[in-house]
Amino acid sequence: MSDKGTYTHRVSAAGRVNLIGEHVDYCGGKVMPCALSLKNTVFCRPNGENVIRIRWADLPEEVVLDLDRLESYRALKHAKYHAGCAALWRAAGHRVTGCDLFMDCTVPFGSGLSSSAAIEVSTLVALATVAGEPFDPVEVALVAQKAEHEYAGVNCGIMDQFVSANGRAGHAILLDCATLEKRDIPVALGEYTLVITDCKKPHSLVESKYNERRAEVEEALRLIQREKDVSCLAALTPAELEACRADLPALLYRRAKHVVEECDRVRRAARTLEAGDLVSFGKLLNASHESLRTLYEVTGRELDCLAHAAQSHPACLGSRMTGAGFGGCTVSLVKKSEEGAFREYVAERYARETGYTAVFYSAEIADGIVTETL
Ligand code: GLA
Repeated sequence: MSDKGTYTHRVSAAGRVNLIGEHVDYCGGKVMPCALSLKNTVFCRPNGENVIRIRWADLPEEVVLDLDRLESYRALKHAKYHAGCAALWRAAGHRVTGCDLFMDCTVPFGSGLSSSAAIEVSTLVALATVAGEPFDPVEVALVAQKAEHEYAGVNCGIMDQFVSANGRAGHAILLDCATLEKRDIPVALGEYTLVITDCKKPHSLVESKYNERRAEVEEALRLIQREKDVSCLAALTPAELEACRADLPALLYRRAKHVVEECDRVRRAARTLEAGDLVSFGKLLNASHESLRTLYEVTGRELDCLAHAAQSHPACLGSRMTGAGFGGCTVSLVKKSEEGAFREYVAERYARETGYTAVFYSAEIADGIVTETL
């Protein structure tokens, strides 16, 4: 970036790893994600024109978005996110002014660590910053989620955008997705560390399968509501779901059972993490993966192989897929002193069983949004 010195601000927003509470955010459940030091950084400056000009560190092109036609860029591969954010930020009553944005993303694309949330959140903060306006991180998360729905076509929950905008270094967020109430929980792992491993399976159809799961649990809720007054699946106890079993086709029952039991695991995981009981916490990670594999069916051979290899290593207290699934990453709780041996073992077994090469990411639990004046 030759003219780096002329940007007025640098803002960044984080990718995330979810510790537990998978596929429950859109069912009103609680989740427990952490913001990562893998992030999208936007260098920005006002340009005095009626356009947003975007460049990327790793792409040759420059895209120019006309502020009067922001809704017309949905077909653009990369810039649809920025166009969507700008259009929706303005629709929410904020000022959007002409600016230059230079994007530099260290969240690996397609890894399931929420590069798109990091891009959306950092873009919104950049727009507010160049317009000289303050922003509310919760509103930023909600508008970013809307951009994902309307411009990227993924009917996602609020988890990724929320933690990207509100994450705090060294902490997981225990977020109630029904109310957006949150509590920061210190991630104090002592002699253990989190290891994030990418299965590197070229995944396709994630969006359509994700939207399909979401439709299934919405249908399950609709059927249950014919018999029972309940606002969301997360509000059911396992016993209450059992009592509704006859009202649901077998597949929808399995989907709902995952949601209800995963919500219960999140409650227990928060307690065990706060109490420093990492052994119990690790068991909950394993149980979460098992449920995502057998009941929710979002893991697949590669993530199963990675998680099972990790779980069988003596230095690992627990391992599970993280994010939407159908590819992407696992998160494992591993003894620091044996991390090297753990990685070697998992990589070798994974390559042998699947033919793919796993990639390990080094990342800290970081703040969600960082803004700096240059
Ligand atoms: C994706 C979505 C989130 C959440 C997870 C699964 O990351 O963007 O909203 O549903 O999948 O927990």
